[in-house]
Amino acid sequence: MKRKVLSTILAVSMVATMVVGCGGGSTQTEAPAADAGTEAPAEGGDNAQAEAPAPVAADKEGGKVGVAMPTQSSERWIKDGGNMKEKLEAMGYEVDLQYAEDDVQMQVSQIENMIAAEADCLVIAAVDSGALTTVEAQAKEAGIPIIAYDRLLMDTDAVSYYASFDNEGVGTAIGEYIKTAKDLDAAKAAGESYTIEFFMGSPDDNNAVLLHKGVMGVLQPYLDDGTLVCKTGRTSFDETCILRWSQETAQQWCENYLTGFYADEDLDIACTAFDGFAYGVKAALQGAGYTADNWPLVTGQDAELMACKNILDGTQTASIFKDTGLLADKCVTMVEAVMKGSEPEINDTTTYDNNVVVVPSYLCTPVAVDKTNLEEVVVDSGYYTAADLGL
Ligand code: BGC
Repeated sequence: MKRKVLSTILAVSMVATMVVGCGGGSTQTEAPAADAGTEAPAEGGDNAQAEAPAPVAADKEGGKVGVAMPTQSSERWIKDGGNMKEKLEAMGYEVDLQYAEDDVQMQVSQIENMIAAEADCLVIAAVDSGALTTVEAQAKEAGIPIIAYDRLLMDTDAVSYYASFDNEGVGTAIGEYIKTAKDLDAAKAAGESYTIEFFMGSPDDNNAVLLHKGVMGVLQPYLDDGTLVCKTGRTSFDETCILRWSQETAQQWCENYLTGFYADEDLDIACTAFDGFAYGVKAALQGAGYTADNWPLVTGQDAELMACKNILDGTQTASIFKDTGLLADKCVTMVEAVMKGSEPEINDTTTYDNNVVVVPSYLCTPVAVDKTNLEEVVVDSGYYTAADLGL
């Protein structure tokens, strides 16, 4: 098969539209300011080039796309994989969709098999973002372009594009939700305080680091002035990150916290980074005898169907809606770009430094949802039906 190296490197970046999800709206054509929004989270990015290496184009109709997803244990990845397969097949591609069940070695083997089967392009949402460098180098050697799906692929120059959400923005939205819902400024003025505990994402996922940064960007001042009181004292990323986003670990931590630190005083806020954590926290709260009268504010991420139902029945307060259908649309344009030499829409060329290159990215906009806007955001957009939610 003939492949050619694209010489075009995108010079023009587009600013994210502040609309629900990542579609629609108008885009500006000026490059975002260097300090606008987020910074690269990873350390050691001093040698990073300004752009990722030019993608490789297959210059052909159709072709094989390997889609490597991390797990089927949470609803969002099932939707992501399904969306990608459906959209790519509708465009005439053959799709090999694999889930690695959060097992790094299984994902490495799946990608090796895709390379051996002469895939024309790989779309990867990593289990461990830094553990795929060898197999990524093999893909590059074989001339197979790689697109990082939602999770940035770290420490490699083999990645052409990155499709994701504004990951620090997810954390900011969680922090702002808590700040507004609890009116932390009024509490501060009145000399009142709320207790809070943090359940953050996996240390091998760059998104989790950014999310924590976004949360703390909003909440740290209130921890510093005593408006928020974290009785375990665990607020740093290292102290609050949960490997592989494990719901069971979140539940266990919450049980331990409630027993060890909240015997005499209620927990007011569970700041969690993932709907799965919110389910674990819910089980721990129920086990500890919490009821609607003292149920804490519980956050999450992904607006999974179960989370939406929990929001409606009050056992979860909020989540962050990330429209995986729109994300898949953006990713598909990147597949087309590396396969056919077209140019995908990019709106960030500065933020996602993976320690080797700054990966040209399209970032969709996350939206906080709670009881007040759930139907409007997730049903009116067609993401779920009213019947799905039992409405
Ligand atoms: C994604 C989140 C998801 C989490 C756990 C992260 O990489 O950005 O949307 O909740 O993984 O699966």
